[in-house]
Amino acid sequence: MDIIYKPIIFCLCLLLGHTVLSQQAEYALMPMPQELISQEGKFRIDTTFQVAVQGNPDERIYANATRLIRSISERTGIFLHAQGFVKPEDKDANAPVLITVSRPGKVVLHEDESYQLTIDENQVKIEAPTDLGAIHGMATLLQLLQADTAGYYFPALQINDNPRFAWRGLMLDVARHFLPMDVIKRNLDGMSATKLNVLHLHLSDNQGFRVESKVYPKLHELGSDGQYFTQQQIGDIIAYADALGIRVVPEFDLPGHATAMLVAYPELGSQDQAYEIERYWGIFDPVLDPTNDYTYQFLDSLLGEMASLFPDDYFHIGGDENTGKHWDQNPEIQAYMKANNIKDNHELQTVFNERLLPIIQKHGKKMMGWDEILQPGVPKDIVIQSWRGKESLYEAAKQGYQGVLSNGYYIDLVQPTNEHYLNDPIPADANLTEEQEALILGGEATMWSEHVTPETVDSRIWPRTAAIAERYWSPQSVNDVEDMYERLDKISLYLETVGLMHLRNKGMLMRRLANGYDTEALEVLVDVIEPLKIYQRNAGGTMYTSFSPYTKIADVATPDQKVAREFRDDVDHYLQKSTEEEAEAIRTKLSLWEANHHQLLPTIRKSPVLKEIEDLSYHLSQLGAVGLEAMDIIAYQATVPEEWPERAKKVVELAKQQGGRTEIMVVSAVEKLVTQAIQEEGRNNTNTKY
Ligand code: ACM
Repeated sequence: MDIIYKPIIFCLCLLLGHTVLSQQAEYALMPMPQELISQEGKFRIDTTFQVAVQGNPDERIYANATRLIRSISERTGIFLHAQGFVKPEDKDANAPVLITVSRPGKVVLHEDESYQLTIDENQVKIEAPTDLGAIHGMATLLQLLQADTAGYYFPALQINDNPRFAWRGLMLDVARHFLPMDVIKRNLDGMSATKLNVLHLHLSDNQGFRVESKVYPKLHELGSDGQYFTQQQIGDIIAYADALGIRVVPEFDLPGHATAMLVAYPELGSQDQAYEIERYWGIFDPVLDPTNDYTYQFLDSLLGEMASLFPDDYFHIGGDENTGKHWDQNPEIQAYMKANNIKDNHELQTVFNERLLPIIQKHGKKMMGWDEILQPGVPKDIVIQSWRGKESLYEAAKQGYQGVLSNGYYIDLVQPTNEHYLNDPIPADANLTEEQEALILGGEATMWSEHVTPETVDSRIWPRTAAIAERYWSPQSVNDVEDMYERLDKISLYLETVGLMHLRNKGMLMRRLANGYDTEALEVLVDVIEPLKIYQRNAGGTMYTSFSPYTKIADVATPDQKVAREFRDDVDHYLQKSTEEEAEAIRTKLSLWEANHHQLLPTIRKSPVLKEIEDLSYHLSQLGAVGLEAMDIIAYQATVPEEWPERAKKVVELAKQQGGRTEIMVVSAVEKLVTQAIQEEGRNNTNTKY
């Protein structure tokens, strides 16, 4: 059946492929499935909506089916007759939604996650070898909910789906800023909605050790400011993730990034000193002493305890960014190196990793680490997580190592979605054989938490991570940026219904900043600014610490602003085609911005925290004014004073300045209008002169 069926689907897709691709945005799906065949008809949702499960699934299917029913009821407002709950004995083959699962899935790497979803006018069918696949099928179904004047429906179609990559991760750094249970759980829900399947928790760093240890309790007592997960909570996270088919991979960063551990147990350090929890951001010198046997005894007990908390096969030991300075400064370590013919700190870290490896293995785990751990001779079942560049990933694959790509997926850098989206784990120029390609397990978006708190972290992760999730799941050929953005804007709204706070918290953050309910003018500004990108927000590394306020304009501002992005697109289209519709949209925005400074000033006056945006707000209004003048020149050949070009260019230059660690994201578009206007104006003047 399978063998005959798949080629038919494949041939149909070849025939329909063009139609399917051009219709992507019509389905607000993210990730897009491997194969989608649209059909005529609609499955209407009414009060009889119910789900039945047949076959041999894990019991987690029932909770997920209940969530499906609840979500449909909540989003449609329909009072369902069946009151929602799916009973294990309800195997009604005629149920509106029929889920068929062959066997319980295991939440492990390379588990079968495939599913088929068939929707016709009478029934929705999800068929999958494991319940993990069926859960993905339900996630797809939930994204397919649509409405017309007659009500809510799912469009008739056939989807045949499975992931391109087996490792589709999100890393949350809970060490630098602690992210408590509710943040973890709602982000797991977001991951499930976008078919991500690995939650990587970065649990220790210079600023905190975030898990209760019963063996070495001073770790959480002295190394966490009281902000850590109890062992019970770790169990809860794992159970919550498992119910969604998501693995949890723990990371304890060693031997560097270890100040918080050394606060508790300074005897592990490479300097004879007391340590304090690090409050600044950056790379620091405290490091474990790799020449001391006690270090390994300690790690054996600690990692044994931690390994028993986390059931996943993989255990991440960090391994990144060791400055080596404390090793250089310690005469005993230097003597050890000389006696053992260890020529540099790199080799010394290899010695450390070599002694750590059997400890990890003894506790039943496979070792994972940042790309620094790739050293000659490390065993082939380790996983390299590549952050410094893709080359190390491909080099590792050529040597037979498995890898996960994170370079290019640093979502903390607040870059536009398209840059992450087009960053393929296996680009054409990787030059890998098929066997080597199979060693690239996938990727992980990394949410480093220097500049986020529980209030703001969702807006740094979502919705951009949905596009990254598509990169990990969907065929490589799904890479149309315009189409991605069209779907992303819809998915962003959907993710809010899943419980994420990326949109919701904006209102709260703005009201606090405005010191009142009226945030209308503030929002006009917020909608066109973004936090400074890459590492510019904290230039010099001394502006922010753990306890800085992350409640300011740069924290309300979010990456890849929709309003600004659409304005830039409108300007580009207008300058190519001069359509009246786009001209109108551009003018509306420019007028709004021109008038906004006057509207916003009273709020700035009564809310001193907003003083830092006064210039920014003024620059936006000036941009609005010269933008309108530029439009008049372009559209109506309006005459302007001789000094206009210089004045307009000056306004544009001033608007490029940062304010409150944010930047205005429509400057480049207004600059294009000004440039065009100056050209046209030059022509007009030439005409009048001659
Ligand atoms: C890293 O960003 N240091 C892994």
